[in-house]
Amino acid sequence: MNELIQNRNEELPLPSPLDPAATAAGWLNKRRNEILALYEKVMYGRIPPRPATLRFEITREVPDALGGLARRREVTLHFQNGANSHTAKALWYLPNASKGNLPVIVGLNFKGNAGCTDESDLPLEEGEERGIQAHRWQIPMLMKAGFSLITAPRNHFFPDHIDGRKESIFALFHPRAELTPESRQYTAISAWAWGYSRLLELAMTDPEIDERRIWAHGHSRLGKTALWCAANDPRFAGTVSNDSGCCGAALCRDKIGERIDFMVKNLSWWSPKRLDEYANREEALPFDQHWLAALIAPRPLLIASASEDTWADPFNEYRCARAVGEVYRLFGADGIGSAHFPEPDQPIFGDRVGYYLRTGKHDVTATDWKFVLEFIRRSC
Ligand code: GCU
Repeated sequence: MNELIQNRNEELPLPSPLDPAATAAGWLNKRRNEILALYEKVMYGRIPPRPATLRFEITREVPDALGGLARRREVTLHFQNGANSHTAKALWYLPNASKGNLPVIVGLNFKGNAGCTDESDLPLEEGEERGIQAHRWQIPMLMKAGFSLITAPRNHFFPDHIDGRKESIFALFHPRAELTPESRQYTAISAWAWGYSRLLELAMTDPEIDERRIWAHGHSRLGKTALWCAANDPRFAGTVSNDSGCCGAALCRDKIGERIDFMVKNLSWWSPKRLDEYANREEALPFDQHWLAALIAPRPLLIASASEDTWADPFNEYRCARAVGEVYRLFGADGIGSAHFPEPDQPIFGDRVGYYLRTGKHDVTATDWKFVLEFIRRSC
């Protein structure tokens, strides 16, 4: 705990995202778009458009999954753009005990769909290990709370390695020969963000889903993605960033743990080349990450950290949650106000912005979901 806050200042001076004469309308109609364009250029690249044709095929529906708690759908998403096609597979749960107006969590996963659940009747895809990350999803808990869940593997949208572009959704829009490790403008984070929007569109096909309560949730690299996708796609009602760290919710200035230099050298397919200019020069960035978080405003935003996750830097995630209040206040919401860095497991459920520090490692646990569901219930 001490290591997280030693010699660190809650009032770190930061560039302001606001125009001098800021108003809520000016923010939504102008300033917000300028900031989106800046992030596109410097940190994440452009999210491709919706493909010309999109088809959702429910390949199987199990009415009594998880001991009767849920309906489980296995869905193939077919994308077509001119002669190019691409597919992805999603897993969709709907709670059996609740009918209609369902809130839904949309989130990509790391280890494949069968990795998210212990259910033995779900076919295993190559390389998947059944239930290996079931603890990260807590599907029975979500079902009991009356939430729907849609997930899909991130690798179905952009395989997470330096040469992943060729097999990514960018191949719908560009010749594969162009999709080399050097074409840094086509980033994994933007491809995954594109995937989140397609899963949202899948959710919207069912009248039982409440379209005003579709939330983006992501852990770590997918937490960065959940922020970026909801910043771009106003159909997301709110966002949960879990341990998103560097180039996610953590401020870049005064950051400990991972810094831009590490990311652009080791994970170059996540960001455009332009970001390289800020390696070890974070203070020269035209923005800091509270500008990204502000793109979610006035929608609710929850930033979550874990106490042993110094690589992500919980204190700088907290600072971001506090600094973004400047923009929420334009909309009459106080964010987390001037709340201090909290003790572990003492969530700050503020006014449209939340922050908490969970005890433990870089992960998603049942405790995280307990706080997340509580925040969502309070927000909408
Ligand atoms: C690496 C990477 C982080 C990322 C994390 C994850 O640690 O450096 O930026 O958030 O992987 O996705 O788990």
